Amino acid sequence: MQIGDAFGEMLRAFVRDGEGLEIVERDDGFLTASQLGPSHYLAPFRKWLPVERRAARLVRGRVLDIGAGGGRVALHFQERRLDVVSIDVSPGAVEVMRERGVRDARLLGIDEIGPELGVFDTIVLFGNNIGLLGGPRKAPRLLRKLQSVTRPDARILGTSTFLYDTTDRSHLAYHERNRSRGRHPGQLRLRIRHRDLATPWFDYLLLPPEELDDIAAQGGWRVARVFRDDGPIYAVSLEKIWPVSSATSGDVSSGSKPRRWAISSLDGRVPSKNSARNWSPVSALRHQSSPTSRRRYERSCALRIHARR
Ligand SMILES: C[S@@+](CC[C@H](N)C(=O)[O-])C[C@H]1O[C@@H](n2cnc3c(N)ncnc32)[C@H](O)[C@@H]1O
Repeated sequence: MQIGDAFGEMLRAFVRDGEGLEIVERDDGFLTASQLGPSHYLAPFRKWLPVERRAARLVRGRVLDIGAGGGRVALHFQERRLDVVSIDVSPGAVEVMRERGVRDARLLGIDEIGPELGVFDTIVLFGNNIGLLGGPRKAPRLLRKLQSVTRPDARILGTSTFLYDTTDRSHLAYHERNRSRGRHPGQLRLRIRHRDLATPWFDYLLLPPEELDDIAAQGGWRVARVFRDDGPIYAVSLEKIWPVSSATSGDVSSGSKPRRWAISSLDGRVPSKNSARNWSPVSALRHQSSPTSRRRYERSCALRIHARR
């Protein structure tokens, strides 16, 4: 087996033949076909997951699509006259994007994002790409980097998977194996396989929204909205915690006034004035007492956050 651009080759083969799967290998030897795959990475908007379509309504301004794959996000928002920069580490994916008409597709990894890309209003991490945050130590670093290339009212829109909702013994054993090695249970070490090719191993961090919120806070972001349905994949919108201390981000001017958050949810829960600044949709989610109300809460995605300056 050779190490190379297995993802790009898989995408190119799908464009050529109209069929194919994305084969994912986990470092315990578990092999599976991805639940999304190349047809999804090339899909028109009407075939996106419902949770992606709902989160996509929050896209605005200048957009950075990270790990853009076949460029479906850029193609959709270009049509709506938004300025989209699409980056990916796969040369094959970048080639496919350009062939499909993506105007600004660049060969660039998430770790290489810098000020030369300009300033963005929306960052997109679809296709489970919240996972690219990599691990509990790396994620806050990357999120601080994303702070520095975005406007104060920017959003990160991404998707992830409810990894722990499983009874599969091999997944449960993998979570346990991670714990015993001092790794986060949702930190998957993966590579993509295509024919005789494999990508290098990479870490992919899949977390439920409440854990994502904890990690995001260390990078200056908070989970503002969660979109979910009956499927395992959920979408999320992250907004900046305001103000961000200079210890966590150097990009926010120190003279900025803190926002006061007035938070309400459709279930009528309004936190007290004192708790409001520490309260987030996911902390509410965590405190839903019965499993039924929690599930109902998660499904309804009922929270509305109104920022009052
Ligand atoms: C699961 S696909 C998602 C594609 C696209 N976001 C979508 O939803 O259709 C993951 C993509 O992330 C890219 N990728 C993986 N590691 C990356 C990294 N470190 N930086 C940027 N892109 C990366 C892969 O090459 C691939 O195109």
